[in-house]
Amino acid sequence: MAHKNVAELLLAADPDAARIYINELKRQECTLEMVAAENFVSALTLQVEGNIFTNKYAEGQPKKRYYGGCANMDDIELLAVERAKKLFGAEHINVQPHAGSQANMAVYHAAIKPGDTVLAMELTHGGHLTHGSAMNFSGQFYKIVPYHVRLTDHRIDFDEVAALAAEHKPAMIICGASAYPRVVEFDKFAQIAGDCGAVLMADIAHIAGLVAAKVHPSPIGHCDFVTTTTHKTLRGPRGAIIMCREKDADRLDKCVMPGIQGGPLMHSVFSKAVAFGEALKPEFADIQRQTVKNAATLAQTLLDKDLALISGGTDNHIVLVNLSNRNITGKQAEQALEKVGIVANRNTIPGETRPPYVASGIRFGTPALTTRGLKEAQIARVGNLIAKVLQDPENEALLKSVAGEVQEISAAFPIYPSQWPQGKNPREEGC
Ligand SMILES: Cc1ncc(COP(=O)(O)O)c(C=O)c1O
Repeated sequence: MAHKNVAELLLAADPDAARIYINELKRQECTLEMVAAENFVSALTLQVEGNIFTNKYAEGQPKKRYYGGCANMDDIELLAVERAKKLFGAEHINVQPHAGSQANMAVYHAAIKPGDTVLAMELTHGGHLTHGSAMNFSGQFYKIVPYHVRLTDHRIDFDEVAALAAEHKPAMIICGASAYPRVVEFDKFAQIAGDCGAVLMADIAHIAGLVAAKVHPSPIGHCDFVTTTTHKTLRGPRGAIIMCREKDADRLDKCVMPGIQGGPLMHSVFSKAVAFGEALKPEFADIQRQTVKNAATLAQTLLDKDLALISGGTDNHIVLVNLSNRNITGKQAEQALEKVGIVANRNTIPGETRPPYVASGIRFGTPALTTRGLKEAQIARVGNLIAKVLQDPENEALLKSVAGEVQEISAAFPIYPSQWPQGKNPREEGC
């Protein structure tokens, strides 16, 4: 009997869950995914993510576990670590963090004490919640001093970073961002951290794939701790890893477990290992280079249509559109685009005047579309469709015609044909 995929298994066993699963299959297949933090894992990683390692507790470190029966857990964790080291060149890597936020929390624990001062990028200027938001543990347990981008060119203001570091003597400086379309100059941060005696942490969640493929400078050698999620440009399963020097390894590992986590998600450690194996192949670097080329094409297409971009363009996979001089908010833009099948997210911009739920920007990313196979010509076409929608978001006839074009493009680049129930096709089901 042929092996059944998840949809087929669910249809036989749990029709309620099957309906939701198939709706999401259809959504992913029929829309153009442009959330900068998202990607499509390979068919192999997708299959491997559901595996028997989910059954096992493996608290501790490889060869030093608190449970019996962990020999295979050790083997897969050591393989994940070895491959991650080849990708990034770090001395020590912990592959157990459940997610990016947990990875960042473990570094705070390992590097500084509650109440210490942390210099980090302000949220509306591109930073992440875990870089000091008042609603997050980071803003509640540490004294956060925010740094900014210049409002003139939206580049990190290193004069301000240096002045704040000299004035506040932070225990830790964080670099790396969620919505910064330009190169992060780790060497400049390292100089400032060295001058004020701060620990330097880089959060490369967004750009990890680019760093691994050497399309973006590496923080290794400049930073004491480096965290990244595994599911964005890196194209692995949801999760995270932390890198540091050998001298900090023991302290860091203890801050992950027992510091903030119990048993690692070993099925996920397994698929991290498989995804890192894929990332070591030359095709992965090709995709990262194409991701950056596609973002540059998207940026130019939008500029040609008179849209304003934060920083005037991009060096990486992110294009952040400034809608503050237009008659549309980030929220309205996101909703109008979703109607035509283009999925992106509203985003605050430097100098933001609206609440984050409304926001004056919309953020696009090219990782998922590049993985799907789109190149410059198709991206330019998508960019023109975006510009049309942002120009006239309430014109229903226009939205309908753009939606038709989105269907044409998405139909030409199928993602997971093997995941459909046998004999079914998302297009026949009506996108
Ligand atoms: C820079 C950065 N760090 C950390 C995270 C948190 O990752 P997670 O959602 O896995 O907790 C994100 C998520 O978007 C991010 O952009």
